[in-house]
Amino acid sequence: MAWLLFTMAMFYLNHYDFFPLHLPMTTSPSQSADEVICQCSGTTRGYIEKLVQQGLDVDAISQRSGALTGCGGCEWDIAELVKALGAQ
Ligand code: FES
Repeated sequence: MAWLLFTMAMFYLNHYDFFPLHLPMTTSPSQSADEVICQCSGTTRGYIEKLVQQGLDVDAISQRSGALTGCGGCEWDIAELVKALGAQ
């Protein structure tokens, strides 16, 4: 049980800037295009924005970039980013 809690804590610390709170991302222009959204694949915000502009959905973005093919910890962030960009 302690091993599971330790693993979960390490995952959280590696994937989120705030502990224990995960604050939602924003899509403001001040966000860097170089910000890595998917830690497993190294997919950046700028690359996701480029793929969204090409009309790709989350599944297609995953196939093209490799995002969401690892731990899945970026799923919510990518879905929210795609949703926000699509609404613009
Ligand atoms: S952070 Fe692990 S799949 Fe994206």
